[in-house]
Amino acid sequence: MNFELKSLDLAACAAEKCDALIVLVSEAFAPAKDALSQLIAQARASGDLEAKPGKLLQMYRPAAAAATRVLLVGVGDGAARHVRQAVATAVAAAKGPSLRKVLISFAGADAQKSVRAAVQAVAEATYVYTTTKSKPEGRTLSQVWLCAPDAAAAQAELALGTATVAGVELAKEWGNRPGNHATPTLLGTAAKSLARFPKIRCEVLGPKEVAALGMGSFMSVAQGSKEPLRFIVLHYSGAAKTVAPTVLVGKGITFDTGGVSIKPAAEMDEMKFDMCGAASVLGVFRALGDLKPAINVVGLIPACENMPDGGAVKPGDVVTSMSGQTIENLNTDAEGRLVLCDALTYAARFKPRAVIDIATLTGACVVALGGVRSGMFSADDSLAAALQAAGESALDPCWRLPLDDEYGEGLKSNFADMANVAGRAGGAITAAKFLQKFTGKMPWAHLDIAGTAWKSGAAKGATGRPVGLLLDYVLNQPPALIESAQAAPKSIVRRKMATQAIPAKTVAKTAAKTPRKTAAK
Ligand code: BES
Ligand code: MN
Ligand code: ZN
Repeated sequence: MNFELKSLDLAACAAEKCDALIVLVSEAFAPAKDALSQLIAQARASGDLEAKPGKLLQMYRPAAAAATRVLLVGVGDGAARHVRQAVATAVAAAKGPSLRKVLISFAGADAQKSVRAAVQAVAEATYVYTTTKSKPEGRTLSQVWLCAPDAAAAQAELALGTATVAGVELAKEWGNRPGNHATPTLLGTAAKSLARFPKIRCEVLGPKEVAALGMGSFMSVAQGSKEPLRFIVLHYSGAAKTVAPTVLVGKGITFDTGGVSIKPAAEMDEMKFDMCGAASVLGVFRALGDLKPAINVVGLIPACENMPDGGAVKPGDVVTSMSGQTIENLNTDAEGRLVLCDALTYAARFKPRAVIDIATLTGACVVALGGVRSGMFSADDSLAAALQAAGESALDPCWRLPLDDEYGEGLKSNFADMANVAGRAGGAITAAKFLQKFTGKMPWAHLDIAGTAWKSGAAKGATGRPVGLLLDYVLNQPPALIESAQAAPKSIVRRKMATQAIPAKTVAKTAAKTPRKTAAK
């Protein structure tokens, strides 16, 4: 699917042959003298077209346009989230086997503010998963023109939008694949193939290397499965080695049966989505490969299956994590935190400016926030503010939840340094408190995406969240921390982040230690 910006007003759009012309009509729309503008003015005056976001009026071969279909759609005040809703509604209505070329006219909306949202909405409305279908019918839409009189000014937003789409679609692809088509080994090869982009390197560690690192907690989750675990390390190096990276850690449970503490049968298939945190990390790297910003990012993915088996970890077993802390496994279904804790310990070697883990971690987070906002936890106010802002800007929102020490009390164990569960109350928070024990002094945040990473029911499928949030966050790192900020491509627009000022002393002075290059077994 190819997106292009075109400097065309509404009259020029109307003259262009296409399968569908979508006109975004805001409250502020001022009709010109051309026939289509006049038609819109009439429809508005008669009450047949409302500026309310998503309100739609469709026409077939109207004399006023060369398009087969014209869709007038309200965008309210023209805010990005209204544009997203309007474009989603219009593209869904126009969708069909003959839809190949679409024009979107921003005549009534600010293209610069909403092109990213429009691009994402078109992609979302036309996305189809095909990998495991015998007769794949993919997307037919191939050409999308985004038209505004001042279209050229929106070039950076278009680049951000198309890169986000590429990342989101990679995350959806891996999220949607069934467990037998998305094993830890296959995730490893998917990560390796990202190294085809300049500035991206990837190493994939296997069971032997992970054992040598002492990741006893991660290994205990994998031990009930025939599929060998993988520990994926991705590097995006867009800035000098002296610039501290952001480390993204994605939960990569390629299938979560619950282990010996087995889950009930109903909807267990959805536990193939338990690697959506990992998929979002792959998605961010895919987008960085396109955008090439002057930043450093490390991606860490502990990937394995959680299976019951004669060799599986048992309730009550005590394991030793890479940090040296011992953990009593009181519920083998609380496995996400057990793979993440060792990855967080590993993250410290990069002396990161921030570590963010992304995980489909708890059913409790789904109860708390549903599918609208991801749960966000951080003891660092500036990091929390930056993630919150990134979520709003990318229309991929999150909501901060607390981390009071009292929430961690239930994790006490009589037989180890801690237990992996703390009872039902505040389950999303106690999970975050567990992870926090492995973060030392690193600025750290945890995103619980259990409610937002996929949809259930008829529209079952991965959402690609929170690729948009994460990408917006890493691109808006305070320039003071980026040594080669001047060399940053002009196409990447940084948001002003008053709340994100981080003292210069947090900048790592030494080069990040790179782990020994090792091959997967
Ligand atoms: N992958 C699940 C979390 C999950 C459950 C996400 C349902 C989305 C929907 C995680 O590994 C898990 O099983 N968590 C347990 C933790 C509990 C045993 C403390 C949960 O949430 O029930
Ligand atoms: Mn589980
Ligand atoms: Zn899980």
